Amino acid sequence: MIYAPAHIKTIKPYIPGKPIGELEREMGIAGAVKLASNENPIGPSPLAIKALKGALRDINRYPDGSCYYLRNTLAQRLGVQPEDIIFGNGSNEIIELAVRTFLGSGDEAIMAEPSFVVYSMIVQAAGGKNIIVPLKECRHDLDAMASHTTEKTKIIFIANPNNPTGTINTKSEMDAFMQRVPDGVLVVIDEAYYEYVTSSEYADSMKYFREGRDILILRTFSKIYGLAGLRIGYGITKASIITEMNKVRQPFNVNSIAQKAAFASLSDERHLARVKKINEQGKKYLYKKLKAMRLDYVPTETNFIYVILKEGNARQLYEGLLRHGVIVRPMGQQEIRITIGLPEENKKFIEALKKVNSE
Ligand SMILES: Cc1ncc(COP(=O)(O)O)c(C=O)c1O
Repeated sequence: MIYAPAHIKTIKPYIPGKPIGELEREMGIAGAVKLASNENPIGPSPLAIKALKGALRDINRYPDGSCYYLRNTLAQRLGVQPEDIIFGNGSNEIIELAVRTFLGSGDEAIMAEPSFVVYSMIVQAAGGKNIIVPLKECRHDLDAMASHTTEKTKIIFIANPNNPTGTINTKSEMDAFMQRVPDGVLVVIDEAYYEYVTSSEYADSMKYFREGRDILILRTFSKIYGLAGLRIGYGITKASIITEMNKVRQPFNVNSIAQKAAFASLSDERHLARVKKINEQGKKYLYKKLKAMRLDYVPTETNFIYVILKEGNARQLYEGLLRHGVIVRPMGQQEIRITIGLPEENKKFIEALKKVNSE
């Protein structure tokens, strides 16, 4: 019998949402909608689909381990050197690479709660210690996070915007925080929802990169680009940091189809603008309906909305919505997170919500 060590045994596993087909079968319903994983409901750019179909012919070959074409195009667009970018099998993999590279057993990582659950799982798997700092009014409490640094702190995670609350930290908050970060600490600024942000107060993390600070900015093709199923994301950081991370990276970590589809997506600004516009319209619709139902929500800078229940419990609401063919994500006792969907999906969610409330 083989046993996992205690730090692995005690990891709370990530529970993926139910597949739509399975829900429909269980409930004996059709036309269920999934508003649970912050995916882009419109889908990828048609240019990406065309490119990936073309890429199928070459899947007998290993992918380009350097992501050469994507790297060079992205570097030009971001105004950085190609060596300042690292690609991953989703930005999730880059989180893992950062932890495996810079955090040793017993070292500490600081993160907020609730925030993206993957940070703490990966730190724990690496034998590190999670230092959890609660959100303040649904936003990262950067002052408190800076105050928790010790000589053991190796990484600080900031999701900006945050998942699940959809909130941002502002320029001035981030500026003040960056001044306080001690030498030897890597600040990971996770910007998975960066392209959805509309606030003029949003912190420009590239400024900290240009100042030569030890930061790793994470972006992804999973969200606004609609390529979640292909798994591709990237990090922007100093070349010297990437040199170390490359030592633990698998040589062919990003598949060839993802590279081609991501490359093609970059040239379709119109598709991106359309996705953003539909998201904004969905957001307005949901705000209006939630307000009319007297439900509290947190204004979002992303493609999902965090709803805080005044009464009842999130699990019950989640199960009630499931019975009406809508999959959302229960987050805590009183909170649910809803991905903004297509207009008809948002409408179905609101109708299901009304039915559950009247049951
Ligand atoms: C804050 C945050 N970071 C990272 C990710 C992971 O994205 P990827 O699909 O690129 O691994 C997600 C996905 O839900 C997220 O919400």
